[in-house]
Amino acid sequence: MNSLNATYETALSIDDYLFIRKAQAWDDLEYSQGAMALKNSIFIISCKVDFKTIGFVRLIGDMATSFYIQEIAVLPEYQNQGIGKELMKRAILFVKSCLKNDWKATIRLKSMPKAKSFYENLGFVSFPNKDDKNSLMMLVIN
Ligand SMILES: CC(C)(COP(=O)(O)OP(=O)(O)OC[C@H]1O[C@@H](n2cnc3c(N)ncnc32)[C@H](O)[C@@H]1OP(=O)(O)O)[C@@H](O)C(=O)NCCC(=O)NCCS
Repeated sequence: MNSLNATYETALSIDDYLFIRKAQAWDDLEYSQGAMALKNSIFIISCKVDFKTIGFVRLIGDMATSFYIQEIAVLPEYQNQGIGKELMKRAILFVKSCLKNDWKATIRLKSMPKAKSFYENLGFVSFPNKDDKNSLMMLVIN
């Protein structure tokens, strides 16, 4: 969709994964932990521009009822050019492709405050809300 000559593929190297994470100033991952995270993901799609990997989205889940966007990131210098939206659209298509006729499933994610409207543009709603009184909760183990 964009003038960047972006290509997408269902693969991501460990080095590219760790590099793009680092560019977001996210917590450092040990190489072997990054490798295991990628190996056990249910779906990964990355974006390349001029042979350089510049973004990815990574999903975990049970492939039937519950899908979770674990990470999405685009290198800062490539943001706001439609790459993130395209990655998300492809992730949503993947989830749809997993579902049989009358199956229903959820795609969950945890949004940083500044990315909320990015997800809302794609149809995501915050919860709890008036239709869902359950709270998203988390336990951090370290
Ligand atoms: C969030 C992120 C993945 C979006 O990717 P992107 O390639 O910059 O987004 P796009 O260019 O595809 O933007 C799609 C739309 O979302 C909007 N948008 C993009 N980033 C946004 C942000 N941080 N906040 C609000 N809106 C945003 C764009 O304006 C655009 O709107 P439009 O469709 O009306 O034109 C990217 O900014 C990023 O990597 N951020 C740092 C890491 C991060 O925060 N990841 C998500 C953690 S919850």
